[in-house]
Amino acid sequence: MAVRIEPSILSADFAAFAADIARIPSADLVHCDVMDNHFVPNLTFGLPMVQRLVATSAQPLDVHLMIDDPDRWAPGYAEAGAHTVTFHAEAAGDAVATARAIRRAGARAGIALKPGTDAGSVLEAIDEFDQVLVMTVEPGFGGQSFRQDLMAKVREVRAAIGGRDVWLQVDGGIGADTIAIAAEAGADTFVAGSAVFGADDPDAAVQRLRRLAGG
Ligand code: DX5
Ligand code: ZN
Repeated sequence: MAVRIEPSILSADFAAFAADIARIPSADLVHCDVMDNHFVPNLTFGLPMVQRLVATSAQPLDVHLMIDDPDRWAPGYAEAGAHTVTFHAEAAGDAVATARAIRRAGARAGIALKPGTDAGSVLEAIDEFDQVLVMTVEPGFGGQSFRQDLMAKVREVRAAIGGRDVWLQVDGGIGADTIAIAAEAGADTFVAGSAVFGADDPDAAVQRLRRLAGG
């Protein structure tokens, strides 16, 4: 199975995103956490920043929307040129319609599940999505501890994906001591913020994570 490592710029220097992204050439995609201070109690950046990152980043962008009303806002990130646009099931009015709008705008459509959210409704519509994100912390902040109790959900999603080209992403507390646990449960796409940008050599950290995930 292909392994994808996505450093999260939530742990990068907010005044020097371009320079920090240039330090991780081994990354497959760059994970961009958009937070609106409503869906989660934290505020980061929005569409203008993502537009600049699309224009300046060597790697494709995976945009993780932690915002209210993704039905209204998510397609704009696809139009801006993001590779993948992931929105939260808990925030969506019509998740299938929003995923279709993201695909029509040319991006892969991802759906994210908070730790307390059951995977059932997403799995019923699995063909509408290109990525399922199982959050392994409560969304909102980097540097939290990985929740191993979510591995049952990862296994459930992996079983439902079967042979489909749907990426199974984990986000939160992924590092050298946890990535193999998530890989063993069936994840193939790994977000890591503090474990990459907190390292002295971020690119070596990406390469090490990839090895530990079996990639
Ligand atoms: C948290 C974000 C994550 C965050 C992960 O809500 O979605 O992408 O950057 O940070 P770490 O890897 O430090 O847990
Ligand atoms: Zn994220």
